[in-house]
Amino acid sequence: MAEPKQVLGSLRNRLAVTLIGGATILAVLLFLVVRNYAAQIAQQGQDSILAASVSSILDAAVLRDNQVEIDFPYASFSMLTTPADDRVFYAIYRDDELLSGYVDLPRPDHIAAQAHHYQTLTYSGTPVRISTASRVLLGADLRTRVTVSVAQTQDALSDTLNSISRNVASVGFGFFVLAVLLSFWVTSTTVAPLNRLARSVTRRGPQDLSPVAQPVPTEMVPLVSSLNSLMARLNQSLTQSEDFIAEAAHRVRTPLATVRSYAETTLQRVDKEENRQALRSMVRAIDESSRAAGQLLDHAMISFRADQLEYQDLDLVELVQDLVLRLAPVAEMKDIELRLDLPEPVPVKGDSILLQNAIRNLIDNALKYSPSESIIDIRVSSDPRSQVEVRDQGPGFPPDEIADLALRFSRGNNATGTIGSGLGLTIAQDVALAHGGAMTLTNREKGGACVIFSL
Ligand SMILES: Nc1ncnc2c1ncn2[C@@H]1O[C@H](COP(=O)(O)OP(=O)(O)OP(=O)(O)O)[C@@H](O)[C@H]1O
Ligand SMILES: [Mg+2]
Repeated sequence: MAEPKQVLGSLRNRLAVTLIGGATILAVLLFLVVRNYAAQIAQQGQDSILAASVSSILDAAVLRDNQVEIDFPYASFSMLTTPADDRVFYAIYRDDELLSGYVDLPRPDHIAAQAHHYQTLTYSGTPVRISTASRVLLGADLRTRVTVSVAQTQDALSDTLNSISRNVASVGFGFFVLAVLLSFWVTSTTVAPLNRLARSVTRRGPQDLSPVAQPVPTEMVPLVSSLNSLMARLNQSLTQSEDFIAEAAHRVRTPLATVRSYAETTLQRVDKEENRQALRSMVRAIDESSRAAGQLLDHAMISFRADQLEYQDLDLVELVQDLVLRLAPVAEMKDIELRLDLPEPVPVKGDSILLQNAIRNLIDNALKYSPSESIIDIRVSSDPRSQVEVRDQGPGFPPDEIADLALRFSRGNNATGTIGSGLGLTIAQDVALAHGGAMTLTNREKGGACVIFSL
């Protein structure tokens, strides 16, 4: 049977890949969003402390004798202490001139009054967050602007962020693993009904063309309906072919039998030798045609049944005994002894019509190709396999043709003059193969053909 083309790959794998891919994207998104949010919150925390520090310095600024004096409180810097010992820098300007602090601390270009300005920049090789604000001081006849910048490195902040990232990454990974497990579970439960359907169809007997009755998910209903309608049509066409084979056999054989009986009767009445000769050839031709028709129809029937074997519990010994009984008259006519070696019953499972047909062809060949007054040995055994062995004392198979004799319409050079169509061994071999067995042809050392038909 042809394997179905696997063009779309596995449904289960696609589903699993989609789900796992989705889970990966979600886990990465979760990580990025949470990390970004945490970074914002941490930054806001640092900003508000920096702003408080700047404000406390600005609040301490006073104008005395036209001089700006700042006695800034201890808390202004101590509030900036962090576990990572972040460094703090500051600068105080009166209008544009540096009053105190780090000369090179970057200074924002313009600052709105009362508003705090924040910036992240690099100072002395490390990233720092800088907060700047200004305040106008009014004296008796003077108006001056004091600007304060306080900057802080971000070591504690990045430590916090790293630890948050690690935690979020582990949670994200946990979710990912959970999602992978879930996706495996989901895929197998989704694919399970399909597998169940496939198993139930495979497990059916070859004759079982009844509709699938097992409940299936909604999405599979169209598939099962088409399957059922296909089986209904198949059932119908099988019945038609069976009828056709029977009908064809009948139509071909009956008129041939009639013609043959007329020819035989005429032969009795005709005296002229050349007419008798013609009639004999006619009878022979009719026999050939009728044999060919019979074998062709048997072969067609076997090809047809082999696809849907009707297994029955049979006894191979009984089957052979029955055949021998039916072929005994033919054997008697040729003075051939059919010697049986039958053990206890050999139970087999098989299609009795096919098996009878196959073994009959083997015995028929032995009768046809061996000389009168010889012996045909028929042995049934169950060891190593259930098998039937037919040995005769004839000329044996033509050795150079033995490999091809089981091919369709193949006849050996020893068959000239014998009626036959070259289908007997083909039928026997097809039946053996359909039952998972084999047929081997050999010649016996002492002469004669030997066929082993095993199941
Ligand atoms: N027992 C035998 N002894 C010798 N030759 C045999 C024997 N059985 C078969 N053969 C050879 O194998 C050939 C094929 O056998 P097969 O049974 O397929 O065809 P057939 O007997 O010629 O025709 P039919 O289809 O009527 O049986 C025969 O023509 C014959 O040459
Ligand atoms: Mg034959």
